[in-house]
Amino acid sequence: MADLVIHNSVVVTGETMYPASVAIHDGKILSIGSADSMPQAKEVLDATGLHLLPGAIDVHVHFRDPGYPHKEDWESGTAAAAFGGVTTVFDMPNTIPPTGTAQILADKHAIASSKAYVDYGLYGLLGENTIANVAELVAGGVIGFKLYMGNTFGAIPSPSTGAMLEAFEVVAPTGKRVSLHAETNSIMERRQSRLTAAGRTDALAHLAARPAVVAVEAVARAAILAEWTGARIHVLHISSAAELRPLAEAKARGVDITGETCPQYLFLSADDYERLGGIIRVNPPVREIENQQPIWDALMSGVIDIIATDHAPHAIPEKTRDDIWTVDCGFPGVETQRPMMLTEVAAGRVSLCQYVRWSSVNPAKVWGLFPRKGLIEPGADADIALVDLKHQWKIDDAQLQSRSKISPWHGRNVCGLTIHTLVRGRFAMRDRTLVTGTKGWGRSVHTIQHMPTPQPCHTDETMQAILRDPKPSQRT
Ligand code: DOR
Ligand code: ZN
Repeated sequence: MADLVIHNSVVVTGETMYPASVAIHDGKILSIGSADSMPQAKEVLDATGLHLLPGAIDVHVHFRDPGYPHKEDWESGTAAAAFGGVTTVFDMPNTIPPTGTAQILADKHAIASSKAYVDYGLYGLLGENTIANVAELVAGGVIGFKLYMGNTFGAIPSPSTGAMLEAFEVVAPTGKRVSLHAETNSIMERRQSRLTAAGRTDALAHLAARPAVVAVEAVARAAILAEWTGARIHVLHISSAAELRPLAEAKARGVDITGETCPQYLFLSADDYERLGGIIRVNPPVREIENQQPIWDALMSGVIDIIATDHAPHAIPEKTRDDIWTVDCGFPGVETQRPMMLTEVAAGRVSLCQYVRWSSVNPAKVWGLFPRKGLIEPGADADIALVDLKHQWKIDDAQLQSRSKISPWHGRNVCGLTIHTLVRGRFAMRDRTLVTGTKGWGRSVHTIQHMPTPQPCHTDETMQAILRDPKPSQRT
């Protein structure tokens, strides 16, 4: 006896699509096949006209909890995810306090597990002062680490290159992936103070302070340190054509490096600064239009692996200040990624299977969650988005589930809407309505994470090895 059978849907995976019925039991997909092959079920859903996609895995969100409840919390953030057909999120550590000790991590786990509508992973902070906490953070259940090479919201200091090398040395044997805010801080600080001194307060001054070279330099440097230590790294929010070269070159050398981009770098450009003012302020900045197509091409070719959102909610007054340097960086996105991307699917620019690879399959593979997540197959978690690909609508910030009611997507005409979202077999959102009884159903996915065997390099030269035994000949 199944808990639920979904009839008349079109099942979509990273490789193929086909009409089928899907039976769900105990949070997992039990069987897929013709309607007459389905078991008896407690409940039946007719999904005529809908496509059944694996839930999206957004590996880059800021849910602000604990710390900034007026911007977002675990309840509103995961509700937004459910409305966007997102069934797993990875939350960033720039909360208050930053997620840099086992105790702070345990507190965040407690908050998330009591409020979340969807599954989640928590990032641990890899900063200059938290390198010594790596082991306790891994034991406490992190999905990976976040390292801020450049300053952004939350003002977490950027580790020096020396500290970064040591951080990579320490994380490499754990097998966890380090996600990088890859913008070089010293370049940006210098440029921002020169621009401020020159009296610039306009939105484009933000872009001028963070030219693409900050990303090129950071990606190249991080790749060298990852190659040296064997640490796995992930380049967050790829914004420029130029940083694709060090990324592709590192991949070709065999460095375990992956990349993500976000809708803001695929759909916005420097041409939008005048229209949007401070709303467009985000780190890394939205860049000149010439960057867009190469980023699309990198997704197509596999140089970029993943679509995430950098969902970064702020309140309206925080986004509408006149002086650009005082505007908070970022905007919500976890709920609008799917409709934005599905609009491109409808236009024939990308295939539905390609999109499912970028939003579900690849994140699951890169983070060791495949085949439990990212797949519609018997035995996989029943994390499902039922999507109406033909539904045309207009994004309205006021209607977002996020507490942040201000985004650059306001007023966009899109095609494609998630109608129901299931997380491990339970409706989190049904008929565009939040199923409030599912609050607290979300669980941390670090328990199912299986990363390949770690391959640390130059282990006889790490700081730890040298401090353990100062004589090179005796180190192993
Ligand atoms: O624009 C951004 N906002 N970029 C980041 O890296 C952080 C984020 C935030 O937390 O607001
Ligand atoms: Zn971010």
